[in-house]
Amino acid sequence: MLCLGIETSCDETAFALVESGRRLIASKLISQTEVHRAFGGVVPEVAARRHLEAFNPLLSELLVEASSVLAVPASDVLSAVSAIACTNGPGLIGTLLVGLAGAKALAWALDKPLLTVDHIQAHVCANYIGTELEPPFLALVVSGGHTQIMHFKSYKEFEIVGQTIDDASGEAYDKVARILGLGYPGGPAVDKLAAQGNPQSYNFPEGQVPGYDFSFSGLKTAVMRAVENPRSDLAAADVAASFQDAVNRVLFRKTVQCAKSYGVNQIVLAGGVAANSDLRSRFEKVALVEGFKIFRPPIALCTDNAAMVASAAFFSGHEADLSVGAYSRR
Ligand SMILES: Nc1ncnc2c1ncn2[C@@H]1O[C@H](COP(=O)(O)OP(=O)(O)OP(=O)(O)O)[C@@H](O)[C@H]1O
Ligand SMILES: [Mg+2]
Repeated sequence: MLCLGIETSCDETAFALVESGRRLIASKLISQTEVHRAFGGVVPEVAARRHLEAFNPLLSELLVEASSVLAVPASDVLSAVSAIACTNGPGLIGTLLVGLAGAKALAWALDKPLLTVDHIQAHVCANYIGTELEPPFLALVVSGGHTQIMHFKSYKEFEIVGQTIDDASGEAYDKVARILGLGYPGGPAVDKLAAQGNPQSYNFPEGQVPGYDFSFSGLKTAVMRAVENPRSDLAAADVAASFQDAVNRVLFRKTVQCAKSYGVNQIVLAGGVAANSDLRSRFEKVALVEGFKIFRPPIALCTDNAAMVASAAFFSGHEADLSVGAYSRR
């Protein structure tokens, strides 16, 4: 099954073709980061317009890329596609509607099935691409808008075991980057700066939340206080490293505890923060020491992309009719 995936839930316009959920045939993405940088965050109306402008040219580029892999003319690629898949939530409603409207138009014109995909499940499915991962597994989803531990019992069945009660981990990275004057988006900048700092410099608090839930808003406030009332030896790299350590420590500890108590030996990382070098290395080390099997997508498939949408469509997509809508929150 060859699936065309479309992603427009936030500020990345993306198309990809994936065969049977695992083999990436072609992928194209335009990020709007530069457009939104001046505003310090994504402006939904601007993002939706950019998706609209990018839609047709980017799809044409994808077809050209795919034609060489599939050895058919670019004009024949769409007829080889088995289904059209897109994210219809959660995300920014105006941007989702652009992708959904485009997907509906393609499905109708080509007379192919339309499959809708949950964006967060899609982040997890990035781990199926190029691997042999099979459920059951525990997924730690750490993105700009979500932080969840999900127990996948099968490809379609999952339970949310824990989640943030306030800020998402990616949101915390972005806010701390702003406090430190590192610009937008903040996660990669904090990651880079933290590598030069001492994670033991500041004793930032972990959110005191029971079970497998998380809280990051107190941590963000503690970082703000440290910067507003600086010690004489204040170094941004030390603040970044100590903040990163506090976030990743709790993500790591609760996920591993949860995996043990659920008797699951596969742990999957997903979402933009799964690109964080310290978080990845913590899980890689536990794999060596405690025998867990760890999966994490290549960096390019951690943040929003369409390959994960096409993969999710294969494993857990919902066949929809042309009246299907988009939703901003689950
Ligand atoms: N190396 C990194 N270290 C830490 N955070 C990172 C890194 N790279 C990206 N991020 C963070 O990942 C987030 C973006 O991830 P993603 O694209 O998955 O989120 P989103 O699509 O905005 O939110 P959601 O998927 O919840 O709707 C941003 O908050 C960004 O700062
Ligand atoms: Mg996302």
